Amino acid sequence: MKRPNTVQWKAADGSIHLKPDEVLDSPLPGFLDIIDQTLLPGKLERRQLCTAEEIFHAIRTLAVRGAPAIGCAAALGLAACAQRFHAANRTEFLARLAETADYLESSRPTAVNLAWALNRCCSAVRLSEETDPAGLTRLLLGEALAILDEDIALCRAIGQHGLSLIKNNMGILTHCNAGALATGGCGTALAPVYAAWEAGLNIRVFSDETRPLLQGARLTAWELSYSGIDVTTICDSMAAQVMREGRVDLVIVGADRVAANGDAANKIGTYQLAIAANYHRIPFYVAIPYSTIDRSIPDGSRIPIEQRSESEITTFNGMRISPETIKVYNPAFDVTPASLITGYITEKGVVSAI
Ligand code: MRU
Repeated sequence: MKRPNTVQWKAADGSIHLKPDEVLDSPLPGFLDIIDQTLLPGKLERRQLCTAEEIFHAIRTLAVRGAPAIGCAAALGLAACAQRFHAANRTEFLARLAETADYLESSRPTAVNLAWALNRCCSAVRLSEETDPAGLTRLLLGEALAILDEDIALCRAIGQHGLSLIKNNMGILTHCNAGALATGGCGTALAPVYAAWEAGLNIRVFSDETRPLLQGARLTAWELSYSGIDVTTICDSMAAQVMREGRVDLVIVGADRVAANGDAANKIGTYQLAIAANYHRIPFYVAIPYSTIDRSIPDGSRIPIEQRSESEITTFNGMRISPETIKVYNPAFDVTPASLITGYITEKGVVSAI
């Protein structure tokens, strides 16, 4: 099945490497290679990122987005930056590493995968006894590539477990984009959809458009139709009506951070979808890898919610659509309480509580 590959590591000669052994001995500094998601679905273009500023900007502007994808991008991006640290010794290397990781982590606050991936990379380096900066860089790149490889496997496992929830002729509703574009692999919420399609099941996907940045209308619709899957875009405000008409048998969404009690932060609009699904007695599942669970936070009230620019709401396609004088509130995520979540589709199985 054709699927767009979101995040890749490339050597400076342009060759693609996904396995640490193939790239670690290369003397050439590499770069992070991403699909620029701000241009989809009109243009499928890749961008090569080398500096911390370029990587920060790509994450901040959602050129690369989706919780696991920004974790992978930050880890690989950190490794790309480290190849250009020119540190004289271990102490200097570790100082530059911490400074760059902190900077990248500040690009977006809600998805815990970002901090998780950066912490994992930094810990791997700090815990090693390596003293040579070149050796430390190799170690860092190895860890970043391991995160990407692991993410691919996690997505596949989530897909296989989620498949058990899908029957022939089901209508599945999803919100935002939690597919191949949002991960290093085939997605979280969309992984069971791909698995069902590959198993030959007849399925229909309803994709909420996901205002204000239209990740559903632009990205989910694009990647599913790219793979040949039946997808229908609806406005966010239509979800309850489509449920009442009996077109939806199952809702699957992704998450950016799940607290210890199971409350799940995901793209704004997810909470109202969960309320509507609950009212219509439609199962509502959250698909997540372990890297999205933040056990340090007891419940959803402590999850930091990203506030984004007014212009995402007041303009459309570069054109002003609101009066100049209005006030705008633009939280990018909301928190769905665990009580509205039927279960979690994880790499270990489908569970009713995490
Ligand atoms: O602002 P975005 O587009 O990064 O938001 C993404 C989402 O809300 C996804 O549903 C979530 O990150 C899960 S991605 C597998």
